[in-house]
Amino acid sequence: MSLNYLFYRKTLIALTGLFLCVFLVVHLSANAILLLPKDIASDLYNSYSHTLRENPFITVVAYVLYVSIIVHTLAAIFITIQNKRAKPTKYIVNHSRQNSSWHSRNMGVLGSLIFIFIIIHLANFWARIKLGIGEEVVLDTNGFKDVYSVTYDLFQNIWFVIFYAIISIPLAYHLHHGLKSGFKTIGFYHQKGLKILAKVALVYALVMGIGFGIIPIIVYFK
Ligand code: HEM
Repeated sequence: MSLNYLFYRKTLIALTGLFLCVFLVVHLSANAILLLPKDIASDLYNSYSHTLRENPFITVVAYVLYVSIIVHTLAAIFITIQNKRAKPTKYIVNHSRQNSSWHSRNMGVLGSLIFIFIIIHLANFWARIKLGIGEEVVLDTNGFKDVYSVTYDLFQNIWFVIFYAIISIPLAYHLHHGLKSGFKTIGFYHQKGLKILAKVALVYALVMGIGFGIIPIIVYFK
């Protein structure tokens, strides 16, 4: 594989990954509504969700989001396969264990777990709410789809709570390394700047991991 081709794919992974990181900030902020008392949370969550679904601009952004998830995943799979094929011969000592962290060497595994999570997650919510597949979503007193009840009901099932809580660990690891390497790929080379960005990536990954992991647990005990 030519270096140009590799660079093009890495840039594609970085740009789609950074876009997905921005989506997660918005998504976590919206889901933080679930932490409010039930009567306030229910109205707010349903009207927020309704506003997003009805907004043409957000509809376009949502399509960019779906394409980004697919492109990010496919480009990462291609690069992982190419890297495996191009592994140095047995005569070259491979110091990768000493030179890199566990999660940077296992981005493919972490990414695959998150991809599986996204498929299950979309089946839980998106397919029911947006596509109308499966059990019908009832309307609340304002005539909006009762997305709050869909979420609340799912998190009354302890297995889903455990699944969502556990998946937030690989999510945090993946985001931490992904954000750091994404910054480098799009051209941040300044050493001091990279050190600051590494801290930003750590804080970001912790907030996302803890945030997405804790919401289902709190909703379960509400
Ligand atoms: C506490 C955890 C989470 C909750 C309660 C939650 C809730 C939801 C809900 C209710 C929807 C449907 C929104 C609608 O159509 O009105 C949704 C969509 C979605 N979620 Fe999550 N989510 C969580 C975590 C995550 C995580 C960790 C990811 C990604 C790693 C994710 C990715 C998505 C995507 C890609 C969509 C489709 C967005 C769209 O069509 O606009 N979610 N989520």
